Amino acid sequence: GFALSANASSASAKSSGASDSLVFDKDAYTELTTTITDADGTDHTVVYHFWKAITYVASPVDAKYQSLNVSVPVKIDGKAVDATNAPIVFANAVGGYMPSSVADATGVGGAEMTGGMPTGGAGGSASPSASAGPSASSSAGTGEVQSGGNAMVNAQGGMVNLGKLGLAAGYVVVEPGARGRTLTDSAGTYYGTAPAAIVDLKAAVRYVRANKGVIPGNTDRIVSTGTSAGGALSSLLGASGDSPIYDKYLKELGAADASDAIFATGAWCPITDLEHADGAYEFNWGTNVTASTGKVVDQTVSKALRAQFAEYQASLRLRGLNGFGPLTARNYDDYLVQTYLQPSATKYLAALSEADRATYLAANTFITWSGGRATFTWADFLTHVGARKKTTPAFDAFDLSAGENNEFGAGTTEARHFTAYGAKNDTTGLSTKRVASDIPEKLDLMNPMHHIGEENPGRSRHWWIRLGTKDSDTSLTVSANLAAALDDLGDDVDHLYYWDEGHGSNVDPGDFLTWIAKVTG
Ligand code: DHB
Repeated sequence: GFALSANASSASAKSSGASDSLVFDKDAYTELTTTITDADGTDHTVVYHFWKAITYVASPVDAKYQSLNVSVPVKIDGKAVDATNAPIVFANAVGGYMPSSVADATGVGGAEMTGGMPTGGAGGSASPSASAGPSASSSAGTGEVQSGGNAMVNAQGGMVNLGKLGLAAGYVVVEPGARGRTLTDSAGTYYGTAPAAIVDLKAAVRYVRANKGVIPGNTDRIVSTGTSAGGALSSLLGASGDSPIYDKYLKELGAADASDAIFATGAWCPITDLEHADGAYEFNWGTNVTASTGKVVDQTVSKALRAQFAEYQASLRLRGLNGFGPLTARNYDDYLVQTYLQPSATKYLAALSEADRATYLAANTFITWSGGRATFTWADFLTHVGARKKTTPAFDAFDLSAGENNEFGAGTTEARHFTAYGAKNDTTGLSTKRVASDIPEKLDLMNPMHHIGEENPGRSRHWWIRLGTKDSDTSLTVSANLAAALDDLGDDVDHLYYWDEGHGSNVDPGDFLTWIAKVTG
């Protein structure tokens, strides 16, 4: 199998010093010229050096995914740029925990994601396209898909690509591919399920750091970005820097012997804390009807899950931002309203013309606008959002139909339960009614909250976290808990919610680039 041959070759690579295959060839680029529209809508002519499809591990399982592209600006609008010591934007393009490849990209921002991002359906399940390549299997579920990886959209519905924007801002851009949940080999073995994607991203960071001084850019100023599942992996990359729990997986791949800690983390709508997300989802959206059925979900299941959230939230012992005090299931609705939702609506409304604001307020009478501030209740906010995207449980589906069930698949088993409650209520014939014995370890490997809870000293200290207020792909508490846990440790957290925006939105990319300059300066 993979493990055996990989072990053998990584051992030989070690004994002979650094593996030659992991040395960055600084001359192996092509010079490209492109026009990039910046966040303010201004076009820039960017001349850059492009390194394509560099395999970042000595013993790849699938180099199509375990490769990265590097883009380095040399001239912007006719002016020479020296990016030798520029921050490195490390932009993953993962969506839906699916495979993500940069191998066929012809320039910056050209990553492809097998199967596209799930945009609907129960449990965020996604089916890969038939053209996914020789090693991709079909998966459970029938979610709608849209093309393109890391599909972030701005307020006008236009695409936002942080790789391109980062390049035009003068940064070095590294775009890593990563294995994803649907990949199978000829024996039907799943080789891209947890923890493959995070192990790959770490291996890519190690490759970059091992080539310090050879690869352009400041390897001590790596800023990770990602959206949705990619946002989850970005936050996990940030939280888990240099954690030893990945060592055996990295060794198997022949990853470079270097730190995988990153300096700063950007995460948009991270779909993370998966083993607690079913309870959180019902706490947040439990009383809303579902988009798919038009009915309020099974309230017995929803209530049982809400009780689990209360227990989990209490166990975290988090304090809210801005001196809110202990965060519990009893006050979390107030916390979201005060800390995120009202300020978000206020900012949105303040930016409108008086006439547009009047129109919006007339159509949304649940908002009181007074003294330049928006106020409203949690219940009215929920009514305003309306239908939820997912059924219950949202992540560990009783019938194993969620994409996350596939993410926790292993061996030749496509999909598995990863919560006790999901396993207990399994409808697929699971005789034990329990999660498999390897699941607890996999959950820690996949959850940034695990590393934050352990106060991992290798974590990044600067965090940019964003979420649309209408995003019901997961609970609004997931990002808020991530932010609160990091803030409680004293990290620098820039966290806000985009008013009335849905899943995958990024309406302040210019502010993010300014933030990179600030924190890395
Ligand atoms: C994504 C969306 C989901 O609803 C989910 O459960 C997992 C991932 C995504 O867009 O990446």
